[in-house]
Amino acid sequence: MENRPVPFFAVFILYLSLLGPFFTSAGEEGFIYTSFAGASAANLTFDGAATVTPTGLLQLTKNTPNIQGHAFYPTPFQFKKQPNGTVQSFSVAFVFAIISPYSEVSTDGMAFVLAPNKGFPGAESAQYLGLLNSSSNNNISNHMFAVEIDTAENEEFHDINGYHVGVDINSLRSEKSQPIGFYDDEHGGDLKNLSLTGCNCRPVQVWVDYDKETTQINVTLAPIKVRTKPTRPLLSVNFNLSTVLTDQAYIGFSAATGPITSQHYVLGWSFSMNAAAPAIDILRLPRLPCPRDNSLPKILQITLPIVAVALIFVVVMILLRQLRYAELREDWEVEFGPHRFSYKDLFNATQGFKSKHILGVGGFGMVYKGVLRTSKMEVAVKKVSHDSKQGMKEFISEVVSIGHLRHRNLVQLLGYCRRKGELLLVYDYMSNGSLDKYLYGEENKPVLDWAQRIQIIKDVASGLFYLHEKWEQVVLHRDIKASNVLLDGEMKARLGDFGLARLYDHGTDPQTTHLVGTMGFIAPELARTGKASPLTDVFAFGTFLLEVTCGKRPISNSVQHGRKMLVDWVLQHWQRGSLPETVDPKLHGTYIVDEACLVLTLGLMCSHPIPSARPIMRQVMQYLDGDVPLPEFTPATLSSSLLAMMKNQGFDPYATLYPWSGNSFGTMTQDILSGR
Ligand SMILES: Nc1ncnc2c1ncn2[C@@H]1O[C@H](COP(=O)(O)OP(=O)(O)OP(=O)(O)O)[C@@H](O)[C@H]1O
Ligand SMILES: *[C@@H]1O[C@H](CO)[C@@H](O)[C@H](O)[C@H]1NC(C)=O
Ligand SMILES: *[C@@H]1O[C@H](CO)[C@@H](O)[C@H](O)[C@H]1NC(C)=O
Ligand SMILES: *[C@@H]1O[C@H](CO)[C@@H](O)[C@H](O)[C@H]1NC(C)=O
Ligand SMILES: *[C@@H]1O[C@H](CO)[C@@H](O)[C@H](O)[C@H]1NC(C)=O
Ligand SMILES: *[C@@H]1O[C@H](CO)[C@@H](O)[C@H](O)[C@H]1NC(C)=O
Ligand SMILES: *[C@@H]1O[C@H](CO)[C@@H](O)[C@H](O)[C@H]1NC(C)=O
Ligand SMILES: *[C@@H]1O[C@H](CO)[C@@H](O)[C@H](O)[C@H]1NC(C)=O
Repeated sequence: MENRPVPFFAVFILYLSLLGPFFTSAGEEGFIYTSFAGASAANLTFDGAATVTPTGLLQLTKNTPNIQGHAFYPTPFQFKKQPNGTVQSFSVAFVFAIISPYSEVSTDGMAFVLAPNKGFPGAESAQYLGLLNSSSNNNISNHMFAVEIDTAENEEFHDINGYHVGVDINSLRSEKSQPIGFYDDEHGGDLKNLSLTGCNCRPVQVWVDYDKETTQINVTLAPIKVRTKPTRPLLSVNFNLSTVLTDQAYIGFSAATGPITSQHYVLGWSFSMNAAAPAIDILRLPRLPCPRDNSLPKILQITLPIVAVALIFVVVMILLRQLRYAELREDWEVEFGPHRFSYKDLFNATQGFKSKHILGVGGFGMVYKGVLRTSKMEVAVKKVSHDSKQGMKEFISEVVSIGHLRHRNLVQLLGYCRRKGELLLVYDYMSNGSLDKYLYGEENKPVLDWAQRIQIIKDVASGLFYLHEKWEQVVLHRDIKASNVLLDGEMKARLGDFGLARLYDHGTDPQTTHLVGTMGFIAPELARTGKASPLTDVFAFGTFLLEVTCGKRPISNSVQHGRKMLVDWVLQHWQRGSLPETVDPKLHGTYIVDEACLVLTLGLMCSHPIPSARPIMRQVMQYLDGDVPLPEFTPATLSSSLLAMMKNQGFDPYATLYPWSGNSFGTMTQDILSGR
């Protein structure tokens, strides 16, 4: 240094240019580089891959595996003032970055080094960091002090992890090392990990301080955004460097790549003997060639995962909700839109189909009571399980057309909803429940008096008449019985469940079509051919008339008498002329005998085994209202037509059903009536 004295004013110039050496009057000497641009003029000594980029970065390695690079300050520093004396205090600061194409790994590392020479011939790359080789490692004649920044874990050097800072004396086996990190003064001095590798392009500043009195070596790290040197060093090692270093020593950097390529950069560097290294102006450092700075601002780094988790949570909730309220909806349903209920509305209306809202269980499925949230309207929701997709369109259009049917004696169908394997039908709620409960005294329902019964019979007849004749097409009920007659708030009877029996027909082989209806209500020709007609409805209505008047189920099973048909029993009394004996004993004789006999006789007529012998609903209405007297009806009158039927092998009752011809009464036998 003495041979190249620089006038004191030059320090200012050099400080301004931020390049090169300085000397102070106090005998301090050192240098500062805030950029290495023009550093070849500053005479840094390079070897291997080391170079200065046009932007002023000191680049030690490039993206080539197993290479090394060195850069040295051109002249040595006099660390010992006298031969074999003590090594002076010194202080170094530098800013480095390691850029790897992979975010997790990079090999190998770099080191700040003090050594007797400006190069390391014979040194190896990779884990030897371009400093030593397997034979020269750990030899006191190396006279080497280094601070390694290692990004690979090498067992032979007892590395603590794949990512550490170590103090090395003559050997790559560190005297002491620490995972790369820093004590963050801004956050209570906590130890924070530092990420170096990958494309994060986060330069890190390192301070290396040696005190000759205490022989303490401090190594301090901090990301460059931390402007001031942390008060607590990451590493502190006591080692008397006087026993290591030669009197004069060169200072510089070494870096090496291993199997994974990476680039090692030094952005700025300062050194001072017997004084703190001059602070590096971070703002003036050259920019790193980051492939792209895809790192996010800190606020986003924190909020983004939270937002992501929240988003996932919301998505999962929505999916669960969609699953819970999932419906089947197809293009063809658009036209039925107004009749379609959303599953969510029905779910809410029934409080999630709670069992306490079950009104009853039918052949199709459960019926729930619900209150629609928006209109506060009371509804009955029938859940019908249905897996056949086939025929669904036809069925739904039927449901919708049934929804157009409006009559005071029909339970209004309000709409439907479809889910996978499930169909939901929404009806007006009938607050007084189904008729069977009254007839058979279930649920403590009161006994219906005769006037109520005759009214119910007329109501049901009127509803069925409407279905058969008043609508633009004939609608068959197919399942008339007391349990399908519902009583509204004014005890008016309304026919429910009409038209729906078709649900069972859809998509099934006509050969195997199972019979729709209820035992005791199925007309003999329906049982034979499976073909329903208005007259099969009339047959069931006949049984219904007997059911209401007698207060008995159409088929009774008793231990003493075995299976008994209600119609047989009534017919026996009819033949004996003792019809009033069949009237419900719960009426205690308070009924109009003529009316009761008319209803019972009409019931037998409607239940006639020969379809053409049954009246149609229009006539039933007339008979019930007394507008037309019942035709003469004796056992003798039916016998001839019955015989004709039995003789005629090719008889197809369905063919003769409609139009109804009316007056061909004959005698019927008890055997035929009971279906035996
Ligand atoms: N609209 C409604 N209002 C009030 N209660 C109803 C309504 N619809 C049905 N219920 C009740 O639910 C029960 C079951 O009805 P559903 O019509 O499904 O069965 P069912 O008539 O007994 O048998 P099936 O399904 O063979 O016709 C009825 O007995 C009745 O008590
Ligand atoms: C670089 O070296 C040349 C000759 O070796 C010398 O003339 C020049 O002053 C040196 N530059 C610096 C900045 O040290
Ligand atoms: C310095 O020490 C070395 C070896 O320890 C010795 O060979 C040499 O003579 C010493 N030099 C002086 C000037 O004491
Ligand atoms: C190891 O390095 C030394 C110099 O540091 C050199 O003399 C020697 O030849 C090298 N050995 C190998 C095997 O490269
Ligand atoms: C240490 O290095 C010196 C010089 O290279 C060499 O002569 C000596 O044999 C080495 N010692 C060991 C133990 O390898
Ligand atoms: C720092 O990283 C190391 C290794 O990756 C880990 O074991 C340690 O827990 C981390 N420390 C902190 C404070 O995050
Ligand atoms: C090393 O760090 C400790 C703790 O902060 C400090 O007391 C000591 O003076 C430092 N030594 C040097 C050489 O900087
Ligand atoms: C360091 O070592 C040198 C030479 O071995 C010795 O003179 C000096 O006293 C030592 N310093 C301390 C602080 O032990």
